[in-house]
Amino acid sequence: MCGIVGYVGPKDCTEVLISALSKLEYRGYDSAGIAVFENGQISVEKAKGRLKNLEEKMEKGHRPKGHVGIGHTRWATHGEPSDINSHPHGNKRVSIVHNGIIENYIKIKNFLVDKGYEFVSETDTETVAKLLDFYYEGNPVETITRVLGEIEGSYALGIMFSEYPDTIYAARKDSPLIIGVGEGENFIASDVPAILKYTRHYYLLEQNEIAVITKDSVEIKGLHGEKIEKELQYAGWDEEAAEKGGYEHFMLKEIHEQPAVIKRTILPRIMDGMPFLEECGITSEMLKSFRKIYIVACGTAMHAGLVGKYVIERIAETEVIVDIASEFRYRNPLIGKEDLVMLISQSGETADTKAVLRLAKEKQATTISVVNVKGSSIARESDFVIYTHAGPEISVASTKAYSVQLSIMYLFAFQLAYAKGIIDEKRCRELTLELQEIPDIIEKALEIEEKCQFIGSRLMNADSLLYIGRGLDYALSMEGSLKLKEISYIHSEAYAAGELKHGTISLVTDEMPVIAVATQDDLLEKTISNIKEVKARGALVILICKETTDVSHDIADYQVKVPVAEDILMPMAAAVPMQLIAYYTSVLRGCDVDKPRNLAKSVTVE
Ligand code: F6R
Repeated sequence: MCGIVGYVGPKDCTEVLISALSKLEYRGYDSAGIAVFENGQISVEKAKGRLKNLEEKMEKGHRPKGHVGIGHTRWATHGEPSDINSHPHGNKRVSIVHNGIIENYIKIKNFLVDKGYEFVSETDTETVAKLLDFYYEGNPVETITRVLGEIEGSYALGIMFSEYPDTIYAARKDSPLIIGVGEGENFIASDVPAILKYTRHYYLLEQNEIAVITKDSVEIKGLHGEKIEKELQYAGWDEEAAEKGGYEHFMLKEIHEQPAVIKRTILPRIMDGMPFLEECGITSEMLKSFRKIYIVACGTAMHAGLVGKYVIERIAETEVIVDIASEFRYRNPLIGKEDLVMLISQSGETADTKAVLRLAKEKQATTISVVNVKGSSIARESDFVIYTHAGPEISVASTKAYSVQLSIMYLFAFQLAYAKGIIDEKRCRELTLELQEIPDIIEKALEIEEKCQFIGSRLMNADSLLYIGRGLDYALSMEGSLKLKEISYIHSEAYAAGELKHGTISLVTDEMPVIAVATQDDLLEKTISNIKEVKARGALVILICKETTDVSHDIADYQVKVPVAEDILMPMAAAVPMQLIAYYTSVLRGCDVDKPRNLAKSVTVE
């Protein structure tokens, strides 16, 4: 959560910082602020709410002029969203921006209060700023090193010292930070899209590293002052990939990108018509050696893992335990060195998922991560990484990242099933080919967009709704429900269709629409019975089923027909109407589709 940026160079610093922050608003938008060296002094401007509030404030009031500065967009953790709690924090000597959480900030605050410091905000960050000021005796790197030795928790920090007006400093532990390298100018940022307008070259700052950045140099040091050499990274995608490209919202653009990004993700992992995870160092021998498979993730990524469980259990006859990372890490999981722990994460920075990865490594399990953001912490720290190639996902609600995660679940299941001899080569080829056809099927599924818009118009006034399904359809319902509630603010729950009558059906009235997902032939009849139960209680029913499913028209009020894939692959096709229904419901309700309230794209706090 939170996005930080920094700039040193010849350009108008305020303009660069605002432009960079606008690419990071997905990380939080409770407030924004900048600190710029202006006539040798640190000039700070901040405002509660969206970045545009800060821009408006500066237009009417004071807009700092200078060439060196730092900026921040906030997702509030300590202290409500307010001007006073906005970053940067500090005083005339030191100014900082911070992404992360300082766990021992109360202890530090008490220490500093004893030394006579006064605090104005409720943030943990202000304690770091004041601690830097307390230890500062003229040498910034020494001061930062000392402070890092005292603070506990996670941080990516951008720091300015008034005595060094040509330099910004950065440090990180457990929160991401990159250093953008331009010609005669350099940057810091929480994520690559922030710098793409200016450069595609960057360094990844690693754990416990400190960077000293001027317009002509980037020096990286370890905690003992040792100089660290880094490999320059190159961002393969350009700024356009992080722009809306004519769509009204990033979410819609990203839904439409799914065919292309699935192709990009699966093709390098298919060799001669067979799954080929060897591309990522994962051999069949290794796959079949695991005693148990755990898939752990959060939110949408966890829902992708749930589909993975159904698929792996069905095709590869291997038990899979799926869990939410924030639960798994605190319940003494019984993992050992014979087990595989698979972590799924778009950002590769989700705090709970990262903690599970570390726990799994401590317990000597093999770890494989499925990650979208190249070079992110989870990707770097896991034994093996399967990168998904969704490109930058800007909309807070995940769509294309989910689809590419699913595609990897399938390839994994197919390779495992073949390695274990559960399916023969012919079947493995068949399944792999079917997966390769999914991008075309999704292309066709996108043609039902208008119908989904119409369904959105029927749902937009609901206060609450239910998603029901069985098996894979239940796993998909969970994702459909999350998508709808997070961006339209309509309460919604996903239920296993057969479980409804054990309590939840008492909620069903003519004011509770039900979206029923029934794409699995073997479960169709059972789900239809459950649909009849809710229909009999007055619910408006929307049935999502295969194009070829022939059920009477009066079963549901509306049927959304999805192009056909093999049953096991249907979640990939049926995800599209789920995403589009959520999208249009949100648009029709006038919600902020790409930036739903209270959410942030990258959840780097517990
Ligand atoms: C919902 C959504 C979230 C994320 C979750 C995990 O649309 O995007 O539920 O899936 O916060 O994030 P990552 O995948 O970055 O670990």
